Amino acid sequence: MDTSILSLLYIFIGFSWWVVALTFGLPITVLLLLSKNFRSAFFSWVYANVAEPLQRTKVCIIRKKAFQILKDSLGDRNSLVPLEILEIGVGQGPNLQFYPKNCNLTALDKNKFFEKDFLRNRKKNPHVSYKKIVIQPAECMRGVDDNSFDVVVSTFLHCSCDDSVAVLQEVKRVLKPGGKYLFLDHTGFPEGDIGLHIQRFFNPLWSLIFDGCFLDRNPSKEIKDAGFSDVQLQKYISPSFRRYLLRHQILGIATK
Ligand SMILES: C[S@@+](CC[C@H](N)C(=O)[O-])C[C@H]1O[C@@H](n2cnc3c(N)ncnc32)[C@H](O)[C@@H]1O
Repeated sequence: MDTSILSLLYIFIGFSWWVVALTFGLPITVLLLLSKNFRSAFFSWVYANVAEPLQRTKVCIIRKKAFQILKDSLGDRNSLVPLEILEIGVGQGPNLQFYPKNCNLTALDKNKFFEKDFLRNRKKNPHVSYKKIVIQPAECMRGVDDNSFDVVVSTFLHCSCDDSVAVLQEVKRVLKPGGKYLFLDHTGFPEGDIGLHIQRFFNPLWSLIFDGCFLDRNPSKEIKDAGFSDVQLQKYISPSFRRYLLRHQILGIATK
């Protein structure tokens, strides 16, 4: 290609980049930094419409694995008696498709902006009966009774909650004796791995876009130390390079 056309092309791309950065990027960044409400609304839109759909096929593999663990741990339950399930950090409800038949779901999330997408998604999953939606942080579930659930589910919550220890105490409080806590989360690379440095480099931007989500957290110790009678925890390494930053994951089940 002619060098003058190439130079014009470079100037055009450079100019467009700055126009887009200054007209959209800068105002969005300032709003994300200054307004908690905007951050929550922006995150729910990005997560429900871009991030989760883009990763759906890959993440479904691990979601299926997690719900198989739950199914196995419930054994031969009497399927005529509804299973009382609480999902904390439910988001737009990407787990609903994996729920067993005959269950009553209470959905909890601290971000009210997910509600619209959750309601849309719930219509696609009529095999689940819905009890209520609670907009509250999982660290303090006021109005959720003690010993009232057979199962509590959380997927990709510990990476962004404020206090995993408080969440786990609440999970224990609301589970019936013998109740199951199904968890799945992404975690940091092992100490010393270059991946951990890369995660920490991206943390500030990531947590701004994904409303407080940190790439390098690992709630394994908190789950093991929470006082459950039994904890079955396994590690999973995602084979997808596209999911490099989220490569290390944990999943498992804890029994009250
Ligand atoms: C990364 S999204 C995961 C959504 C969904 N569980 C999934 O598997 O795709 C994290 C979700 O947890 C919610 N969340 C984060 N911290 C929370 C807390 N302390 N209490 C309740 N919900 C919380 C967020 O609002 C968001 O909906």
